[in-house]
Amino acid sequence: MDINIAVFASGSGSNAEQLIKHFQGVSEMTVSQVYCNKPDAFVLERAKNLDVPSLVFSRSEFKSEEFLAQLESVDFIILAGFLWKIPEYLIQAFPEKIINIHPALLPSYGGKGMYGSHVHESVIVNKEKQSGITIHLVNENYDEGRTLFQASCDISPEDTPDSLAQKIHQLEHKYFPQIAEDYIREYMSKK
Ligand code: GRF
Repeated sequence: MDINIAVFASGSGSNAEQLIKHFQGVSEMTVSQVYCNKPDAFVLERAKNLDVPSLVFSRSEFKSEEFLAQLESVDFIILAGFLWKIPEYLIQAFPEKIINIHPALLPSYGGKGMYGSHVHESVIVNKEKQSGITIHLVNENYDEGRTLFQASCDISPEDTPDSLAQKIHQLEHKYFPQIAEDYIREYMSKK
């Protein structure tokens, strides 16, 4: 078993870094490349420091089915803070093989416009007592694929969108790599 994982990210890439480090310790699975839609995203620096090649692409490249050529040797895709909608051709080429992390407890705070800091701002404005993370498969409908895992954290009255984001990041770093590995193993064992 030699499984290649592509990590897609748009921003800082702290989750991408955790994923790369985790899979460096898993003999049969490798993060073979980081895919990024922003030439100045910090995730590219992180990938370089960890000796993982990266690919930067434009929206038009991503929208074209020819992009699949860039994923020829890829078995699974993990979205780690990737902000573009996944085109249908890609979902069809990787059925049940695209994993995403969402920084809230879906189905709440999901769907269009609910990404990055918008999520945490809405949660705080609504005075929620809890938030959390959802790790799920990606299908044609945004944030509606099968949930693999959720974990929650308490929100105190003093929390701000920034402090909540920190709590969420801690949960993400703690759980995302292992849940992704477990899912890939489960998928492969059923093949
Ligand atoms: C994470 O909170 C992720 O859930 C969300 O975007 C954030 C990305 O953070 N979709 P990072 O780039 O991994 O640090």
